[in-house]
Amino acid sequence: MPNTVIIGAQWGDEGKGKLVDMLSEQSDVIVRFQGGNNAGHTILCGDKQTILHLIPSGILHPKARCLIGNGVVLDPFVFLEEVASLGESGIRVDPSRLGISYKTHLILPYHKVMDAARESARTKDKIGTTGRGIGPCYEDKMARVGIRACDLMTPSLVHAKITRALAEKNVLFTHLYGCKPLDPAKVSEDLLAIAPKIIPYLVNVEVELKEAEKKGARILFEGAQGTHLDIDHGTYPFVTSSNTVAANAAIGSGIGANKLTQILGIVKAYTTRVGEGAFPTELFDATGELLQRQGHEFGATTGRKRRCGWLDCVLLRASVCLNGITDIALTKLDVLSGLSTIKVCTAYSYKGEIIPYPPQQENALAEVEPVYEELPGFDGDISGIHTFDALPQAVQAYVRRIEELVAAPVRYISVGPERNQTIVR
Ligand code: IMP
Repeated sequence: MPNTVIIGAQWGDEGKGKLVDMLSEQSDVIVRFQGGNNAGHTILCGDKQTILHLIPSGILHPKARCLIGNGVVLDPFVFLEEVASLGESGIRVDPSRLGISYKTHLILPYHKVMDAARESARTKDKIGTTGRGIGPCYEDKMARVGIRACDLMTPSLVHAKITRALAEKNVLFTHLYGCKPLDPAKVSEDLLAIAPKIIPYLVNVEVELKEAEKKGARILFEGAQGTHLDIDHGTYPFVTSSNTVAANAAIGSGIGANKLTQILGIVKAYTTRVGEGAFPTELFDATGELLQRQGHEFGATTGRKRRCGWLDCVLLRASVCLNGITDIALTKLDVLSGLSTIKVCTAYSYKGEIIPYPPQQENALAEVEPVYEELPGFDGDISGIHTFDALPQAVQAYVRRIEELVAAPVRYISVGPERNQTIVR
């Protein structure tokens, strides 16, 4: 059975939720391995829209077992809110359906305060974070002062760790950032008050995955954000704080790297980005507005308007290489309808040279000029088409050209938000 890793090949918001939801039907276990509630997976089924920020999208399938791996940063308060709101929609979430790794780090109120304080202290160089405390929580993990889910079982440890963390952070809050200090006793009490609701979910994720594997289960790894937001390989410093590339599915869950057999890169048929950072193919004209409007390009987590532009095959070529993408799912192709021509960026012009991969120096992406190829556009509604051959010639040509430019096969084509509006090749 293939174990599939689903990752975003651009800057996030590629439509991963829909593909995860679709492939969850054939999966036994669905695992999130990085990021936190900065993610927002929008799933449409019939007329019902569900946005999940933390809980794996597989939860919508009653037979699937969902796991939150050690690589995730989990806000326990947001987690319980999401459980409650899913419950109100008739989706039962309990420890028989969902497990959380003992080793998952917790986002606490001071991480959110730090996220906001840092962003407001930056002037021209804001990152545009989602403000959910993601970065500061990963910082604490690396600094070896983080609070992990397993700590909830030892109240004295929680109290000691929070007291130590705040001894340092309160100095920064009051003396550097001009904000109020947090009371360690209150932070600990609030956390320990909800601990009994979280503890029943704690599991040894790596052992559970090993056992599932032995039984021939199919495991789906649900990535969040996108390749070019990766902390190592993305457009640093305008990135998130985790590794978003496929290899992190192994580290962030505890499965062996040789068990990741299919890497499905989700590619939106154009490019979007939320937050700050260079975006070579960004459009500031009526075409950009059309993509934003027709594609309903608003951030699922923050509601911010997404910046829109042409498809950038230089970034995608890098994504194929960084993730080892075996298959592509091309999403939102229907949004391009009505354009008389479609541009694709095939290379960059940088300091007088034509380059096929992004330049490596910090912020150099802001200095490149995209080299475009123009393809014929198409008109009309393609959202009801179910086979590749029935798509307009111009759409077929666009898909084939992308495959050539990035050297990976397009296996799925999404032509609308519904599960069944997907062509499988
Ligand atoms: P953070 O992840 O909240 O620290 O934000 C860092 C950068 O990643 C910002 O530019 C965010 O807009 C971006 N980002 C974080 N999560 C997502 C996502 O799920 N989709 C798209 N962009 C994201």
